[in-house]
Amino acid sequence: MIVAIDGPAGAGKSTVARLVAADLGFGYLNTGSMYRAVALAAMREGADLGDGAAVARIARERTVRLGVADGADQVVLDEEEITVQVRRPEVSAVVSEVAAHPELREVVIRWQREVLDSGDWVADGRDIGSVVAPHADLKVYLTADAGERARRRHAELADEPGAPTFDQVHADIMARDARDEGRAASPLVVADGASVVDT
Ligand code: DC
Repeated sequence: MIVAIDGPAGAGKSTVARLVAADLGFGYLNTGSMYRAVALAAMREGADLGDGAAVARIARERTVRLGVADGADQVVLDEEEITVQVRRPEVSAVVSEVAAHPELREVVIRWQREVLDSGDWVADGRDIGSVVAPHADLKVYLTADAGERARRRHAELADEPGAPTFDQVHADIMARDARDEGRAASPLVVADGASVVDT
C-alpha cells in the first residue's frame, strides 16, 4: 500500500508522513532527501548545477540510500552518512534548481519506484501522487499559506547560530514555491484524486 503526501516546502509533510508511517508500521520515504543528496554530491564535485546531463551523470554514478538508525532518518551517499549535510542552507539554496532537471528526475524517480515497488510506504515529496506513484492508495496534498509556513520554519531555526530573519525565510519559501510550481518536469500540482489538507 502506498500513501502519497505532496505539497510545498514547510507544510509539515515530513512530520506528518513520519508519524503516519510509524502508526501504520509502514516505511517512510522522504523523496526530497534524494534530490538533496544529489545536489550535495554535485556541489562537492564543483559541477555546473545548471547542466542537467552532468548532474544526472553524477546521480547515476552514486548510490543514495535512505535508512533509519536508532529511530532517526539517515541519508547515506555511497558509504558516507550525510544526514546533517543535506539539510544545510547551502544545499537548500540550490536543490530546487538541481531537482528541476528532467534528466536527473528520470534517474531519481527510478530509484523511488524501486523502493515503492515492495512493501507498504508513506512517501512525501512534490510529485508522488501525480508522477512517481499515480496508483497510490491514498493521496494527500498538504499545504498552508506561505506566511504561516515561513513563521513555522523561522521558529524552528530560531535557536541555531546565524538563524535567518523572518523576511529571509519568507523570501526563501516564496522562491522555492515558484521554482517547484513553475518547472516543466513534474511541477508541484494537486494530483488527480488527492485530498487537499490546509494545515
Ligand atoms: O522536501 P524538500 O525541501 O527536502 O525537497 C528538496 C527539493 O527537492 C525541493 O526543491 C523540491 C524538490 N523535490 C522534488 O522536486 N520532488 C520531490 N518528489 C521531492 C522534492
